[in-house]
Amino acid sequence: MNEHAHALSMSERADELEEEKMHEMERIITRSTIAHLMDGNIKMDTSQEMRAKHPGKFFLMADDPRLPPMPEKPTLVDYFRRRFASTAHLLQSATHALRGGQPEKNVLACLLHDIAIVSFIRCDHGYWGAQMIEPYVDEEVAWAVKTHQALRFFPDESVGYRYPDLYKELFGPDYKPEPYIVEEYKRARAHKWYMTSRLICVNDIYSFDPNAKVNLDDFVDIIGRNFKQPKEGLGLDSSPSAHMWRTILWPTRFL
Ligand SMILES: [Fe+2]
Ligand SMILES: [Fe+2]
Repeated sequence: MNEHAHALSMSERADELEEEKMHEMERIITRSTIAHLMDGNIKMDTSQEMRAKHPGKFFLMADDPRLPPMPEKPTLVDYFRRRFASTAHLLQSATHALRGGQPEKNVLACLLHDIAIVSFIRCDHGYWGAQMIEPYVDEEVAWAVKTHQALRFFPDESVGYRYPDLYKELFGPDYKPEPYIVEEYKRARAHKWYMTSRLICVNDIYSFDPNAKVNLDDFVDIIGRNFKQPKEGLGLDSSPSAHMWRTILWPTRFL
């Protein structure tokens, strides 16, 4: 590592590499403010500053050439295969529900419960994930995905669910959920669909068995029967959450 690199923080070096890569690209690829915030920086170059760094180039307003191309009319399965960062946890949870003989809507809820984490954003992933799928699934499935975020922190001995040991390791023994999570839990506990969300937690297995055979193909029919694929393509329709899917489709479009 040279002295210059030593002097730079990790995120500055990442930015520099990004810049170098961008000079090789045909178009100017931008990073949204949220990506900078995640690096601990509040910043975003103005369009003039970006154009000055890349004279003569236009901004990207289409597919990002660094990502796998998506079909003209993408389906949920295409997002699983070409956009989701990892699917093993989702597939294992859904497989567990399937083998437990649970209804298809529970299997689908398990399959989709953490899609926000693997495709979009971690913080408040239950809420984001629920909004992403709400127009396309049974209301109960979206509700269960939303509330699993809160239920995860509270035990229910009646179904053998304990506070996850992993959370003690991940967040420390003293972590207490914020008041909005506690309130969400109380509402969910009294809701008629409580058990659907609770079963997501029961099937939400953290100790992933690397030898477990899980395959998205096992769920294609269940998706077909329970996820209303828009004919225009997921994200290219006019549902209230289509823009979220488009953002995953084209994460670096200038606008
Ligand atoms: Fe989750
Ligand atoms: Fe999970």
